[in-house]
Amino acid sequence: MKEQRHQSLDFSLIEPYLARKAETAKNEGGLIAILQKAQEAYGYLSTELMEYIAERTSIKPAKILGVATFYSQFKFNPVGRHLIMLCQGTACHVNGSSEIEDAVSSYLGISEGETTEDGLFTLNSVACLGCCSLSPVMMIDGDAYGNLTPRTARKILDTIRTSEGEVEE
Ligand code: FES
Repeated sequence: MKEQRHQSLDFSLIEPYLARKAETAKNEGGLIAILQKAQEAYGYLSTELMEYIAERTSIKPAKILGVATFYSQFKFNPVGRHLIMLCQGTACHVNGSSEIEDAVSSYLGISEGETTEDGLFTLNSVACLGCCSLSPVMMIDGDAYGNLTPRTARKILDTIRTSEGEVEE
């Protein structure tokens, strides 16, 4: 049953690496290197991908999950093309970050930690972005946008979404 499920999924990006390195997964360092390669290739570690790695390395899925969840570098959900980091630090909180979060969430139709269905945006919250004088602040792909209002936050996202549409046409 499990095999059938894997047959329909394409793990060819990681297979050559696994073919050479499956044995090294017995050491935690080797397993981490395999998980890093897998994440590089697929963007995140899906349950199916981890199950596949478990099969190929003969390591129990629970052990793989245990190692992967221990390290914050590993992601378990798809990450969008644009990463939004919404500041929830004290200064931003006092200056209305929760209204910004409501506006961003409802505009994109996702909650914290989720990615839009079109794969464009992932929304994450962070403690402090280090530019408190601009609060409330969000950072998108490394650029900080400060003194936000719900309206300006939506407008920024709208501009990015529109420019993506133009690129694809
Ligand atoms: S609290 Fe938001 S940038 Fe510092």
